[in-house]
Amino acid sequence: MALTEYSILWYLFISFSLALLLWLIISRKNASNYKLLRPPGPSGWPLIGNILDVGMMPHQNMHKLQSKYGPVLWLKLGMSNTLVIQSAKAAEELFKKHDLTFSDRRVGSIAVGRYSDYWRMARKLCSSELLSQKKISVSAPTRLNCIDIMLQWIKEDAVINGGEIQFHKYLTLMTFNLLSNHVISRDIMDYRSEKGTEFVEAMTKFSEWNGTPNLVDTFPFLKRVDPQGIRRNTEKYLSKLINMVSVVVKERIREKLSGKVNEARDFLDALLEHDGKGEKEELSERNISIIVLEMFMAGSENISNTIQWGMSELLQNPNSLQKLQDELDQVIGNSRKIEEGDLNNLPYLQAVVKETMRLHPSIPLLLPRNTMDDTKYMGYFIPKNTMVLVNAWAIHRDPASWDDPLSFDPERFINSKIDTKGQHFELIPFGSGRRSCIGMYLAEKMVSLTIARLVQTFDWKLPVNVSPENVDMREKMGIALHRLVPLTAIPMERKF
Ligand code: HEM
Repeated sequence: MALTEYSILWYLFISFSLALLLWLIISRKNASNYKLLRPPGPSGWPLIGNILDVGMMPHQNMHKLQSKYGPVLWLKLGMSNTLVIQSAKAAEELFKKHDLTFSDRRVGSIAVGRYSDYWRMARKLCSSELLSQKKISVSAPTRLNCIDIMLQWIKEDAVINGGEIQFHKYLTLMTFNLLSNHVISRDIMDYRSEKGTEFVEAMTKFSEWNGTPNLVDTFPFLKRVDPQGIRRNTEKYLSKLINMVSVVVKERIREKLSGKVNEARDFLDALLEHDGKGEKEELSERNISIIVLEMFMAGSENISNTIQWGMSELLQNPNSLQKLQDELDQVIGNSRKIEEGDLNNLPYLQAVVKETMRLHPSIPLLLPRNTMDDTKYMGYFIPKNTMVLVNAWAIHRDPASWDDPLSFDPERFINSKIDTKGQHFELIPFGSGRRSCIGMYLAEKMVSLTIARLVQTFDWKLPVNVSPENVDMREKMGIALHRLVPLTAIPMERKF
């Protein structure tokens, strides 16, 4: 080999080795930076990651991890990178500075799933045609009527059942009828009809299956196997529900074709009349059934749960119950029923509702989001496709934001500017930003009005053997946060 050839080879060898060395140094440095820049969290087990740390009560267990790892937590749930946010400051940073990047959803609601043109169109339609302040104010008499009917059932059943009633049944029936009247202008539940019971049963089963922690979310390669049968059962109950709703949708289409006009144009009419002008997405008949169904699902369970937690707290705190009743008696008197127009004049009632939502946010981890891009968040590197959980339950109990955070103390909201609209990040029961709850306005009215009417119409006593100190307040986690044990109490009609 000539000397020059030898030198060139030698030169190439040296350059290649140097380049390799440099690449190794840089990639090792990046790898350690990458690791260093992740938020802190417990090291997980191979394959399952931190699943055991999270357990069946994720909101409570993540909250416990906060004392060791701080308000921004990094977990590995099986194969899924997970960011958990547990303080008002961290939530504010997310919703104010990164809302768009964190706006996708991986799983969850149907019509409003992924961040997409379809989601945008469906959300806009629901907001303007069903849940806007204007639409809601027109439907006030419907809501009062649904509550009145429920109060009548409670009166009748309390006599039959030796005085005691279980709130769950009445509130579920009432909220379903309330939503069905808003959406399709009629009751979906006749109190004693079988068809209605079938609908509620299918909805309850769907919600239970859908809320069951699914191994597939953690190990996507098990998707086809569906080891717990969750996909099979969710699909079974979902198609049952869609079939039931599509009977109503088809009936309305037939009526429209025959020239019959629905005087009180309702949400279903608006969906059927939506021509999609200027929209990229169209609404099929099936999409319409799913949106209708979603309004029932998103609304009824959350409203009825929140009312049950509110009544549980009032029964556990008789002084607060008495104060609320006194306020109602002073402002409304005993000659008429409370109406929606009275709500602004009842500060203690509003404080009771906020305090209930603080201690018992119906969706404690909000709905999981998914990052759409790599992001730098609070100095950490958060890769694309990270699941983001905002632990509202923990934020609402954070001593940095609240004095004596575990006590039920409505007074804390008297003369306070904090509301639940998603701009005060220490209180976010409806979430915040682009994916916040669109039913907030209706939900607040319904929760306030129902609690007020229950307290105005009846004096309430706990069953024999239960005292305020031992009301069972344990939680059961599904999609929403339920009471583990349904609340039972004795209503005694008040004299007007
Ligand atoms: C007390 C009652 C309710 C509570 C506590 C509640 C709470 C929530 C929460 C926490 C979210 C997720 C927000 C986020 O990820 O930032 C949400 C989303 C949603 N809620 Fe509600 N909600 C209630 C009632 C309702 C009602 C009455 C409706 C409609 C009839 C409704 C429709 C929706 C929809 C469609 C979404 C998905 C929004 C999206 O992803 O764009 N909710 N709700």
